[in-house]
Amino acid sequence: MCQLMFSVVNSAEICYSMPLYTLIKNSKPMQPMLNTAVRAARSAGDLILRSAENASHLKIDQKGRNDFASEVDRMAEREIMNIIKLAYPDHGILAEESGVHAGNDFVWVIDPLDGTTNFLHGFPQYAVSIALKHKNRIEVGVIYDPLRDELFTAKRGGGAMLNSRRLRVTNNTSMTGALIGTGFPFKNQQHLDAYVEMFKAVTIDSAGIRRAGSAALDLAYLAAGRLDGFWEIGLMEWDMAAGVLMVKEAGGVITDFSFNDQYLESGNIIAASPKMHQLLYQLIEPHVTDQLK
Ligand code: IPD
Ligand code: CA
Ligand code: CA
Repeated sequence: MCQLMFSVVNSAEICYSMPLYTLIKNSKPMQPMLNTAVRAARSAGDLILRSAENASHLKIDQKGRNDFASEVDRMAEREIMNIIKLAYPDHGILAEESGVHAGNDFVWVIDPLDGTTNFLHGFPQYAVSIALKHKNRIEVGVIYDPLRDELFTAKRGGGAMLNSRRLRVTNNTSMTGALIGTGFPFKNQQHLDAYVEMFKAVTIDSAGIRRAGSAALDLAYLAAGRLDGFWEIGLMEWDMAAGVLMVKEAGGVITDFSFNDQYLESGNIIAASPKMHQLLYQLIEPHVTDQLK
């Protein structure tokens, strides 16, 4: 962490003790990739919106228990991949509907439609989520809510934004009055009992819990200070890669259920501002089973 912070230029923190190459590295090089992610997310979002009127007539596949994909999920994913491949033909891709596409050290992690169940029911809470990893580190994240035209963006070292507004997690320091987001373990129902205990503990201490149905937007809302904390069991990397960067760049802390950083691997995540994370972790930890560690 920089000890001598002087100013902010082009969204990059300028620290005069930083070598010049670090400075340059933190600011400019990822901008074209962020621009590409934004273009892809907006284009997929437009496609999703245009299809929303027909949502009840769409062909739907069941991928697993309570796990659905429509032709819109696949069309949106193709749209995103076409835009990315045109700009960066050598990059790898991990996309929810079509899986792994091998490439170089850059990997785009794509959830073309996060909140498919909401979308299919006309419940207005879903988004496009795109992240870019370089050598396993998330460098860029974009979450686009086409219904509200809200574009959440983050660049590692460059902060998180909602449209043109800089984001910051809340500065609440108490569970009293806190609004906490979550997702139900509807796919991994073997964890339901543990989850219900966590739910009970958080319900007792907080002002309320919200289960809106899009993990990407949950994390974006946390970064934007609309939620004070978030936890979920069994997410996939594409659900959270962009949101994780968003939260970190907005000053938040993220761990798995063992207070480690293996959340992308385990899918089990607790996210909040540093103080709220401590409080939320204390409520959840007593109910974490060995399988969830
Ligand atoms: C789902 C959403 C939901 C979360 C599920 C995810 P999908 O993504 O993010 O909030 O609880 O675990 O699978 O399937 O709509 O892309
Ligand atoms: Ca998802
Ligand atoms: Ca999805």
